[in-house]
Amino acid sequence: MPNYRVADIAPCQVFAGGEKSVDFAARPVRRWLAEFESDSPRVSLSFLSPTSLPALSLPPSDPTMDHIKNVFAQCQQEGRPALVTYVTAGFPTAEETPDIMLGMQAGGADIIELGLPFTDPIADGPTIQKSNLKALQNGVTITSMLEMVRTARRKGLTTPVLFMGYFNPILRYGQSQLLADCLEAGVNGFIIVDLPPEEAVRFRNGCTKTGLSYVPLIAPSTTEERMKSLCQIADSFIYLVSRMGVTGATGSLNSDLPALIKRVKDLSGNVPVAVGFGISTREHFLSVTSFADGAVIGSQVITVLQDAPAGQAARAVEEYCYKITQRKGRTGEPLASPPSQKQNAVTQSANEDETATTEGSGKFGVFGGQYAPEALTTCLAELDAGFEAARNDPAFWEEYKSYYPFMGRPSSLHQAQRLTEYAGGANIWLKREDLNHTGSHKINNALGQILVARRLGKTEIIAETGAGQHGVATATVCAKFGMKCTIYMGAEDVRRQALNVFRIRLLGATVVPVEAGSRTLRDAVNEAFRAWITRLDTTHYIIGSAIGPHPFPTMVRTFQSVIGDETKAQLAELGKSPDAVIACVGGGSNAVGMFYPFSKDPSVELVGVEAAGDGLDTARHSATLSRGSVGVLHGVRTYVLQDQHGQISDTHSVSAGLDYPGVGPELAGWKESNRASFVTATDAQALEGFRLLSQLEGIIPALETSHAVWGAIQTAKRLGPGKNLVLCLSGRGDKDVQSVADELPKLGPQIGWDLRF
Ligand SMILES: Cc1ncc(COP(=O)(O)O)c(C=O)c1O
Repeated sequence: MPNYRVADIAPCQVFAGGEKSVDFAARPVRRWLAEFESDSPRVSLSFLSPTSLPALSLPPSDPTMDHIKNVFAQCQQEGRPALVTYVTAGFPTAEETPDIMLGMQAGGADIIELGLPFTDPIADGPTIQKSNLKALQNGVTITSMLEMVRTARRKGLTTPVLFMGYFNPILRYGQSQLLADCLEAGVNGFIIVDLPPEEAVRFRNGCTKTGLSYVPLIAPSTTEERMKSLCQIADSFIYLVSRMGVTGATGSLNSDLPALIKRVKDLSGNVPVAVGFGISTREHFLSVTSFADGAVIGSQVITVLQDAPAGQAARAVEEYCYKITQRKGRTGEPLASPPSQKQNAVTQSANEDETATTEGSGKFGVFGGQYAPEALTTCLAELDAGFEAARNDPAFWEEYKSYYPFMGRPSSLHQAQRLTEYAGGANIWLKREDLNHTGSHKINNALGQILVARRLGKTEIIAETGAGQHGVATATVCAKFGMKCTIYMGAEDVRRQALNVFRIRLLGATVVPVEAGSRTLRDAVNEAFRAWITRLDTTHYIIGSAIGPHPFPTMVRTFQSVIGDETKAQLAELGKSPDAVIACVGGGSNAVGMFYPFSKDPSVELVGVEAAGDGLDTARHSATLSRGSVGVLHGVRTYVLQDQHGQISDTHSVSAGLDYPGVGPELAGWKESNRASFVTATDAQALEGFRLLSQLEGIIPALETSHAVWGAIQTAKRLGPGKNLVLCLSGRGDKDVQSVADELPKLGPQIGWDLRF
């Protein structure tokens, strides 16, 4: 703890702005002043003018956690709360960020969170989402953020800086490298929105070795047990999320906050607490900090920056911060002593970043897990327990099976005579999931999840959908069980799958088109997560594929395994067993459902077919397992399509259900262990599969399924006569008829298909 000159301790800030009505803030300061005046009667209050305030005498840019601790200690000494401000790095422009940080400091901010932009910020509201997008358009990367901090430090920034963001860009950059580079550039620590506890401990250990801080997040829903472990890893302060929901300046604050803060303080042994989410005015700031040590303002800062005239962002944010704090901080003159450029103190092995624990449920080798915002974790634990109880309860399965007549199960299995002859190799069998009620395999999962949701006492359902098939299946089971249903769908998919959108609405559900990002499935997933966080008590989110945080991948696989189980039994009745099973792969639910029952039998090949779109040599494909790399998306560690900075790539496929940039973690595990192989089909090859199944077997398949048809023909040729392969016919093609008509002028000539009259 440095020694401060009396003049450095600035009780005056509270008085400087003259907000006399603010009793709670003034109270401790008045107490302090009374003590101060009785000790030093010669000192008058005349120095207490904002312009003459002395600079803080903290170490100029000590890039360590101590600096943050000192800030809270100093605030406490001064009897005032700390203001923590957030800005997305590179918003509104990359050039302005250093000056914006200096403006925050000059306006009295005590700690700055510098947001690391991410393409898929599931815990953020629209304001911060948009700033992320703008920052990415402005080319912001971790490397450029480090340079922003160096520049700000050179210009006189002494305020501690925390990098705040999602894990994937950090994973991609390399954790050890990041710690070393942050220390050198003058970053003091991290807040990571979606790090699960075991990885948080590992990352925090790296931070501790380096001297940097790891600030944990606690939400109103965090259980006592989890709170204890999060409090234990807090080394400078704790970020308390004030309410359930995403970031955003709502103007309303949670009335349970005082009790929550007290709980956290008791459990942590009085580690400082800063409260964030929903704070935008001085009134909020004062009200929150009458219980907490500090308050975090994010979305409102972004709004101020957005509304500022061009080039005036730094000044606008300084004025705004001053309005909140009523105190002036250090202005941005260059520092007399240059920032301490500490050298790499980290000696972790380079491959540590890629090491993940394999124990525990929901892990498939290094894949799987629960990389979810803190607000979701309790709900996920409740779901996990509810699902485990259900799957171990024979009465649950009896109930599930009682709906087989409604679903059209078991689905039939038969040989595709003419397709087999066409391929000239192995016998091709078709597992007819297209004949299920609602036209695809999606009903298997939707029914299972709604039964679990009912057991958990949920009354509302939300879901995302790409092709619309999962939306239709979910709307169907919601109609059957009388539950309110909202389906999130990318606006581009709403256009492509107009028929399914109408079907969903006919079934009484609401469709919410998602305009953000690429306006496809992944954006629908982002939006569904955001919506779910705000209504966890009443609502279950039926994820439509084997993706998302644990327990979703296991739960979806369990309900979809009916495909493989039935196939096995149906072939066994004919005295056969398959040499290969084949399915298309979007998120991977029909594939994992077909593969899982065969996964322990090495005599059965598991073949997944991904969408190669315009071709794997172009950027326009969705072949996640074939061309992706390990990352974290939508709460799970798996293969993802991403750029070198860990930003999720835009994808393309002619079929709306396959253009997801991630994939189920179990499939990723099977790829890694070579248990399954993955091939691809381009848009044109899928269209060829579509034509062949239609014209040789009289079955119009979904465009998603058409990829698997193409893959099955290639596999049949490779396996040769006498072998048996089963193709999972995941869905029927009625929904795609218009898309095929639209695509024919472009793709038709590539396969010699011309349907013009
Ligand atoms: C008919 C059909 N098949 C396959 C898929 C891909 O999903 P998954 O990989 O989860 O089976 C979809 C997705 O919408 C679909 O509608």
